[in-house]
Amino acid sequence: MAVLAVSYIFLLFFLPSFGQSQPDLSFTFNGFSGKDDDIEKKGATIIKPTGLLRLNNKSNDIAGHAFYSKPINMFSNSSSSSKNVSSFSTSFVFSMVPSRSSHGGFGIAFTIAPSTQFLGAEAGHFLGLFNSSSNGKPWNHIFLVEFDTVNGFNGTSDSTGNHVGVNTNGMDSAITEPAAYFDDDSDSQKEDVNLENENGDPVRAWIEYDGVSQMVYVTIAPSSLKKPAKPLISRRVDLNNVLKDTMYVGFAASTGKTKSSSHYILGWSFAMNKAAPELNLTLLPKPPKQETPSSSQTKVLIILLSSFVVVLMVMLCFLTLYKRLTPTFEILEDWELDCPHRFKFKDLYHATKGFKASEVIGVGGFGAVYKGVLPSTGLEVAVKKITRNSLQGIRDFAAEVESLGQLRHKNLVNLQGWCKQKNNLIIVYDYIPYGSLDSLIFNPRDDNVFLGWEHRFNIFKGIAEGLLYLHEEYQQVVIHRDVKSSNVLIDSDMNARLSDFGLARLHDHNGEISHTTGVVGTIGYIAPELARTGKASTSTDVFAYGVLLLEVACGRRPIGSGQFILVDWVMECYRIGRLLDAVDPKLGSNYNVEEMELVMKLGLICSHQRPEARPSMRQVVRYLSGDDLLPGFDEIYWSPVQSMNSRYMEAISNGTNSASYNSSSIGGGLSFNSMSVGR
Ligand SMILES: *[C@@H]1O[C@H](CO)[C@@H](O)[C@H](O)[C@H]1NC(C)=O
Ligand SMILES: *[C@@H]1O[C@H](CO)[C@@H](O)[C@H](O)[C@H]1NC(C)=O
Ligand SMILES: *[C@@H]1O[C@H](CO)[C@@H](O)[C@H](O)[C@H]1NC(C)=O
Ligand SMILES: *[C@@H]1O[C@H](CO)[C@@H](O)[C@H](O)[C@H]1NC(C)=O
Ligand SMILES: *[C@@H]1O[C@H](CO)[C@@H](O)[C@H](O)[C@H]1NC(C)=O
Ligand SMILES: *[C@@H]1O[C@H](CO)[C@@H](O)[C@H](O)[C@H]1NC(C)=O
Repeated sequence: MAVLAVSYIFLLFFLPSFGQSQPDLSFTFNGFSGKDDDIEKKGATIIKPTGLLRLNNKSNDIAGHAFYSKPINMFSNSSSSSKNVSSFSTSFVFSMVPSRSSHGGFGIAFTIAPSTQFLGAEAGHFLGLFNSSSNGKPWNHIFLVEFDTVNGFNGTSDSTGNHVGVNTNGMDSAITEPAAYFDDDSDSQKEDVNLENENGDPVRAWIEYDGVSQMVYVTIAPSSLKKPAKPLISRRVDLNNVLKDTMYVGFAASTGKTKSSSHYILGWSFAMNKAAPELNLTLLPKPPKQETPSSSQTKVLIILLSSFVVVLMVMLCFLTLYKRLTPTFEILEDWELDCPHRFKFKDLYHATKGFKASEVIGVGGFGAVYKGVLPSTGLEVAVKKITRNSLQGIRDFAAEVESLGQLRHKNLVNLQGWCKQKNNLIIVYDYIPYGSLDSLIFNPRDDNVFLGWEHRFNIFKGIAEGLLYLHEEYQQVVIHRDVKSSNVLIDSDMNARLSDFGLARLHDHNGEISHTTGVVGTIGYIAPELARTGKASTSTDVFAYGVLLLEVACGRRPIGSGQFILVDWVMECYRIGRLLDAVDPKLGSNYNVEEMELVMKLGLICSHQRPEARPSMRQVVRYLSGDDLLPGFDEIYWSPVQSMNSRYMEAISNGTNSASYNSSSIGGGLSFNSMSVGR
C-alpha cells in the first residue's frame, strides 16, 4: 500500500516533467558580456565592452542577428492529441541611434525562428530574415515583432514610420500600431514613443503570448517608466502552424541602402510558461551616445584605446617597508568598484600584439600609446603605458581612473574601460582616427585632411565646451593640467575631443586651491603663476587654452627656436596694428576676419600674465558662440596693470626671454624632457 502511494505520488509530481525535456526555461541578461556563450552573434553583431549588444553599426545595407544559443521547445507535450504553442514572455530594452547623414533605419525585431541561419536573406526592409522571394512564404516558420522606423516595404502596408508590428513568415504585418503606450491614468490616452533618437534614449518592450487564448500582447514604454497596464497591441495570432517544435529566440536588425541606424539591446529576459524575469535597470549598460558609434561614411568605428601602465614595484616595496601596503590596497579596491568596464589583461595584450613596438602610435612622458584590435569584438584599440614611476603613486591613479570613468561629454575622449594587472594600470579610451590637432596642424600625414578655418573655429568651440564641462559642469572641478594641441584629438566629424587627463586631479567645488607638490604641464603652456607657485587652477587651464588658440590660428608652435615666444609675437603684431599678419600662412585669405580677430584677441586675453584678467571658460564659450561680445580688448588687456606687460615688451625688445616658465621652479621631479614631449 505504502509502495503504491509512493509511486502514485512519484507519478503525480515527477512524471509530467519527464515529458518536458526543458521545463519552463528562463533567462535574463542585464547587459551582455563578450564571453557569453549563451548569445550567438551573426552578421554585424558585436558585444561592446560596455555591455551593449550592438546588432548593427551605421554602415549601409547590413544586418545583424543575436539569438539565445540553445534551441527552445515551443510546444508542450503534455497532451498528445492537440499540440499548442506554450505561453512565453519576453522583456527587453533597446536603443536605436540614427546616423547623422541620413534618416535612420530600419529597425529591430524580436524574432522566433527555426534556425539562426537565414541564407540569401536581404538587409533593409527584410531585416536579414527574408528576401523578396521568400517573404510571406509559410515555410519560413518565423514569428517576429518588429520595431521599425521606416514605412512598410510594400508602400502602404506599414503606414507609419515609427511603428510596432506583429508579423508571421514575412514583413507584412498582421497588425501594426504607431509606437506609443497607454497612459495608465486615462485608458484611451496614448503617448507617442520615439523608437529612435539621437540620444539613444532606450525603449523597453514586453511581448507576451498566451498559449491558451493565442493572444499576443505587445507593450512599449520609455525605459524610465514602469510597464503600462494596457498593452499597445492585443491580437489573436495562431502560432501553432507557424512555429516548429524547437525554435531559437533572439533579435534581428538591419540598415538600408540609404537609411541607417545603429541598433542596440541593453538587456533581455525571456521565459516559457511564465512571466519573463524583471530586468534590473540599474545593472544595464549606459545607452550608447551619438558619438560613440562611428559616423556614417568612415569604414571603421572610432574607438581610441589609450592605456596607462604604471610600474609601481618600487612604490609598493617602499610602502611595504612602511607597512602602508594594506591601506593602499583598500584604496584600489574602492575605485575598482566604481570603475567602468574592466578589460582582461590578456585581451589587451593580444589586442596590441603583446605591446609590440610596431604598434606604437604615440610616445609621451608617461609611456607609449599602442594601437590594437580587441580580439573579442574586433574593435580597434590603442594602449597607453605609463612607464615612469609616479611620485604621487597609486592614489593619483585611483582618482584619475575614477574621474575618467564618470566624465562624459561630447568633447572629451571617453573612457572605455580599464585593466589592472599586477602593478600595471591600463586605461582604455575611445579611438579617435584623425589623431591629434597638433599633428594635423604641424605634421599632416595626409594632405586631404587640411584643417580650414571653419574646422579650426569649430574645434576651438569644442575644446572650450569640453573644458567648461570639466571646470564647472561636472560635480567636481576637474583641472585638465595639460591642455595643449597634442592632447586634442580630432574625430571623424572634425570635432575636438580633449584627451589625456593623466594629470587631472579632482577638487571639490569649494574653491579650494590644490596643494600639489609638483608642477605638471608642458613647456610653453604653463601659466606664470603655475610655474611660480606650483598651484594649478582653472585659470591655468585657461592660460594654456589661450596659447593653444594662438598656436592653431597662427600655425606656429608656442615656443620656437631662438627667443621666439608665440604669445609675445602676436601681442607685438597687435601692438603695431597688424594682428592679421600672424595668421597661419597656410590659410591664405580663406578665413573669416571677424572670427580670426576674435580668436586672436581671446587667445591673448586667455594667456594673459595675470590670472584675474583671464576669462572663465564659460565666458570663453559665450564669446566664441557670439552670445557675448568680447569687451574692448585694450581695456581688458591693459588695465589696470599695464606695468606687467610693459615689462614683458621691454624684455622682448631687449631680446631676453622674459617668460617665467623659463625659470627653474618647475618641480615635482619631472625632467624638462618628460614635460616637453608631453603625451
Ligand atoms: C515532445 O515529444 C517529442 C517526441 O517524443 C520530443 O522530440 C520533443 O522534444 C518533446 N517536446 C517537448 C516540449 O518536450
Ligand atoms: C560595420 O559592420 C560591418 C559588418 O560587420 C563592417 O564590415 C563594417 O566595417 C563596420 N563599419 C564600421 C564603421 O565599423
Ligand atoms: C489548444 O488550443 C485549443 C484552442 O485554443 C484549445 O481548445 C485546446 O484546449 C488547447 N490544448 C491544450 C492542450 O492546451
Ligand atoms: C531567398 O531566400 C531563400 C531562403 O530563405 C533562398 O533559398 C533563396 O536563394 C533566396 N533568394 C535569393 C534571390 O537570394
Ligand atoms: C503589396 O500589397 C499588395 C496589396 O496589398 C499586394 O497585392 C502585393 O502582392 C504586395 N506586394 C508584395 C511585394 O508583397
Ligand atoms: C539591481 O542590482 C543592484 C546592484 O547589484 C542591487 O543592489 C539591486 O538590489 C538590484 N535590484 C533588483 C530589483 O534586483
